[in-house]
Amino acid sequence: MAVRAIVEYPQQILRERCEPVEAFGERIGRLLDDLAESMYANKGVGLAAPQIGQTHRAVVIDVEQREGQPKLVELVNPEILERSSEMREGDEGCLSFPGEWEKVVRPARVRARAFDRRGEPFEIEAEGMLARAIQHELDHLDGVLFIDHLSRLKRSLIDRRMRKRASKAS
Ligand code: NI
Repeated sequence: MAVRAIVEYPQQILRERCEPVEAFGERIGRLLDDLAESMYANKGVGLAAPQIGQTHRAVVIDVEQREGQPKLVELVNPEILERSSEMREGDEGCLSFPGEWEKVVRPARVRARAFDRRGEPFEIEAEGMLARAIQHELDHLDGVLFIDHLSRLKRSLIDRRMRKRASKAS
């Protein structure tokens, strides 16, 4: 396992559509381990493969670590099967946007299907923060970022701050 550098906006890889995982084995296990370790090291509640530079359809989520009860969820080739019509607003941030937080409106509940690291399919039903995290992380696999759910004004303010940050870093 290793902590990987987090890719920050506006790097282009965050806009790519990720490839389905076809071989379940050591490599996908290593990717999931790196994702989890990188997420925990950065105190995130979720991390998607493109955020560590890997364009595979894999994400990790742990919305309970903050209460001191880590509960890791690994999703490979995930798909949302159902979204509630009820919507909910909540604060959202992203490790690829350090320091940026905004309110995002999303379906309150989702049901999703995914594979575990051994290639076994399973379903997950979620509400609250877990439902939000699942939607946020799955968006990453299609190159969609949380700023895409904001008003154009808010999006452009964040875009400007992030570009400034990137130009200072380089
Ligand atoms: Ni994110």
